Formats: sequence, C-alpha cells, structure tokens
Amino acid sequence: MGVGGCLVVPWRCLVVLCLRLVFLVPAGVPVRSGDATFPKAMDNVTVRQGESATLRCSVDNRVTRVAWLNRSSILYAGNDKWCLDPRVVLLSNTKTEYSIQIQDVDVYDEGPYTCSVQTDNHPKTSRVHLIVQVSPKIVEISSDISINEGGNISLTCIATGRPDPTITWRHISPKAVGFVSEDEYLEITGITREQSGEYECSASNDVAAPVVRRVKVTVNYPPYISDAKSTGVPVGQKGILQCEASAVPAAEFQWYKDDKRLVEGQKGVKVESKAFFSRLTFFNVSEQDYGNYTCVASNKLGNTNVSIILYEETTTALTPWKGPGAVHDGNNGTSRRAGCIGLLPLLLLHLLLKF
Ligand SMILES: *[C@@H]1O[C@H](CO)[C@@H](O)[C@H](O)[C@H]1NC(C)=O
Ligand SMILES: *[C@@H]1O[C@H](CO)[C@@H](O)[C@H](O)[C@H]1NC(C)=O
Ligand SMILES: *[C@@H]1O[C@H](CO)[C@@H](O)[C@H](O)[C@H]1NC(C)=O
Ligand SMILES: *[C@@H]1O[C@H](CO)[C@@H](O)[C@H](O)[C@H]1NC(C)=O
Ligand SMILES: *[C@@H]1O[C@H](CO)[C@@H](O)[C@H](O)[C@H]1NC(C)=O
Ligand SMILES: *[C@@H]1O[C@H](CO)[C@@H](O)[C@H](O)[C@H]1NC(C)=O
Ligand SMILES: *[C@@H]1O[C@H](CO)[C@@H](O)[C@H](O)[C@H]1NC(C)=O
Repeated sequence: MGVGGCLVVPWRCLVVLCLRLVFLVPAGVPVRSGDATFPKAMDNVTVRQGESATLRCSVDNRVTRVAWLNRSSILYAGNDKWCLDPRVVLLSNTKTEYSIQIQDVDVYDEGPYTCSVQTDNHPKTSRVHLIVQVSPKIVEISSDISINEGGNISLTCIATGRPDPTITWRHISPKAVGFVSEDEYLEITGITREQSGEYECSASNDVAAPVVRRVKVTVNYPPYISDAKSTGVPVGQKGILQCEASAVPAAEFQWYKDDKRLVEGQKGVKVESKAFFSRLTFFNVSEQDYGNYTCVASNKLGNTNVSIILYEETTTALTPWKGPGAVHDGNNGTSRRAGCIGLLPLLLLHLLLKF
C-alpha cells in the first residue's frame, strides 16, 4: 500500500539521488549522512500497531529545504506530498520543526526514516528508527485431547507478537501444579491420571496483557473399585449394598448374585447406577436375599469386580430406637456396640430368672 504510492528509487544511490532531485544539489558535493548533531531527529520511535507515529525533525532558519523519506521513498518534500499513502500527513513545517505523522501504523512500516535538510547548499540527513509493537496473539493451539493412561501427548501453542511473546504452559486443574513447560510445546510421555485436567497456554510480551487459552486433557483408565462393604441387615428391613468405582470414561456397573445377573426392575430390589457408584436397595429384606453379591465395573479399557455379602443381622431388633439408616453398614462398630449394650440387661435378667 505505502510502497505503491511512493516514489521509489533503488536503495543506496537512493538518498543522494533523491536529494539531488529535490534540492538540485550540484554534482560532486559529498553528502554527509548520519551527522547526529544536525538536523536533530528523535531517538527511535516505538508505537503499537494501529496507533499513530509522529516523526519530528528540528530545524533552524538556515535550513532552506526539508524532506522526510521512508527508506528510499520520499514521503514529503517541504509542503509537497510525494507519497499517495493517505496515512501519511504533514504535521508541521515551521522555522523550527518539520514533522510528519504516520497513522494506523502497521508492522511493514517498521524501519528507518530519514529527515533530510539542506543548509548552506549542504544536504544533511538524520535517521530515526520506527519500531512497531504488536500485542501477543495465540494463532494455533491444540484441541482438547483424550488419551489412554501411559500414552504420550504433545500440546502446541503458537503465538505471534512483537517483540516475540514468551510462551508458557501451566497445569491449572483439578489442582494447580504450576509451570510445566516454558516453551511452545508441551510433551508428556507415559501420562498418568493425575496429569489429566486443564492446561493453560499463556503468551506474553511487554506490549499488552498476556493472552491465555486452555486445553483439556482427558486421561482414560480402567475401573478401580475404591469402596464396597459387606452389610448386615435384619429380615424385614431395608438394606443397601453399594459399590464405588473410579474410571474414565465413567464405569458401567453390573450386579451378580452368585452367578446370576441382577436385572433392573426385579421385584423388591432397585438397581441404581451413577457415574461413580452403583447401589442395590432391598426394600424389605427376606432370607433369600442374603448371600454373595458381585459388583462388576467396566469401561472400554477393562473391568474389575468385588464380592460383598448381604448377611443377616439379628442384633438390630433390640435397638429399635435406631433408624434403619444406622444398620446399613455392617462395618460400623458403633451400631454393633449399641447392639451389645442392648443385649446385656436382657442377659442379666435371664440369669436372674433362672435362679
Ligand atoms: C515504508 O516502506 C515500507 C517498505 O517499502 C512500506 O511497506 C511501508 O508501507 C512504508 N510506510 C510508509 C508509512 O510509507
Ligand atoms: C534504534 O533501533 C535500532 C534498530 O532496532 C537499534 O539498532 C538501535 O540500537 C536503536 N537505538 C536506540 C537509541 O534505541
Ligand atoms: C511414548 O514415548 C516413549 C519415549 O519417547 C516411546 O518409547 C513410546 O513408544 C511412546 N509410546 C507411544 C504409545 O507412542
Ligand atoms: C416385608 O415382607 C414380609 C414378608 O413378605 C411381610 O410380612 C412384611 O409386611 C413386609 N414388610 C414391609 C415393611 O413391607
Ligand atoms: C463370593 O463370590 C465370589 C465369586 O463368585 C467368590 O470368589 C468369593 O469367594 C465369594 N465369597 C464368599 C465369602 O463366599
Ligand atoms: C471377577 O474378576 C475375576 C478376576 O479378575 C474374574 O475371573 C471373574 O470372571 C470376574 N467376575 C465377574 C462376574 O466378572
Ligand atoms: C458409624 O455410625 C456413626 C453413628 O451412627 C456415624 O456417625 C459414623 O459416621 C458411622 N461410620 C461409618 C464409617 O459409617
């Protein structure tokens, strides 16, 4: 856009030729460029993409001609615009200052700009470097991934920006682990279930706030039964057998009594399965219900099982003040002890009556 509109002269013969054209410098007069003392231009100009850059050149009343160049292209010579780029405007052309402005700066505007002046028939130049900064932007990020435990993954996060952004990967959930990579790539070999969760890529440079994107890593593993207990229930009471399993994807459960599969809708028994557990509810336990139950948890990676017993508990009849909830767990010492304490006075009474 800018180039097309400007008068382009091949670089090197460049400034000299341009200045001769503009100022009609006599041939043979050497052009001293880079004379830092005069004319005075500013130090490097740093602007963000989209902002305006002002290029200032200080002059004095000995100066007869002035021009601003972009590399070898003349942008302005005096009040005359040599460039068609509408973003380039003259800001001031006075006895003390000759300034232009470049609006809506983009990365291709970065580079050296030259202020050229002619004083006492001597052209002099001074250079300012326009530096364009760009906020970080993540242009490529891995999609969410599902991997079997033990597998390898490679996550990618590519970002652009000026200066080049720093890229980091962090493991942020289920519990924040912190930095796992200070690089565009995050490689994990032999992934474990603890390494599942959300990973965050952050791209930062000094120009703007860091940008972040997240990737969800799902680590699949076969079921593992974490809890299942045998339970004692008296006849005529409500009884519950529960089996807890962790697995990804979530386990599917099946119950067997001895070798017979228990199906849903069986009379008097409710089978209830959620993502992490399965529960058998006996509404009114009868003698036939007691026995050996096997809970099988399975997903696409495998299966496991555990056998638990629904056994007859006789003591609870003597502790009617306890709700049925207290007797579900045969392993709960509290309810058993309560039962024993209840037995003791009866036993004493029995002994006393015998004598
Ligand atoms: C400066 O020159 C570069 C390279 O020719 C060009 O891409 C850019 O548009 C120019 N910028 C201005 C403001 O003239
Ligand atoms: C101006 O920018 C140029 C190119 O990026 C660099 O070489 C130079 O050191 C900078 N000068 C100052 C004073 O920052
Ligand atoms: C995972 O990476 C290790 C080491 O680079 C390699 O030995 C193994 O074969 C890889 N496993 C898979 C499933 O690609
Ligand atoms: C439980 O079943 C027994 C025998 O079938 C019956 O006598 C009793 O009333 C039932 N109890 C309840 C609470 O349904
Ligand atoms: C329950 O059944 C399983 C599988 O049929 C068996 O391995 C286990 O020994 C049985 N448990 C008891 C206490 O009988
Ligand atoms: C329970 O697991 C054992 C050993 O892993 C296996 O032999 C058995 O068939 C399983 N039982 C059921 C009902 O899946
Ligand atoms: C045992 O029972 C007591 C009182 O009923 C209860 O507070 C406790 O949580 C139970 N313990 C277990 C392991 O279920």
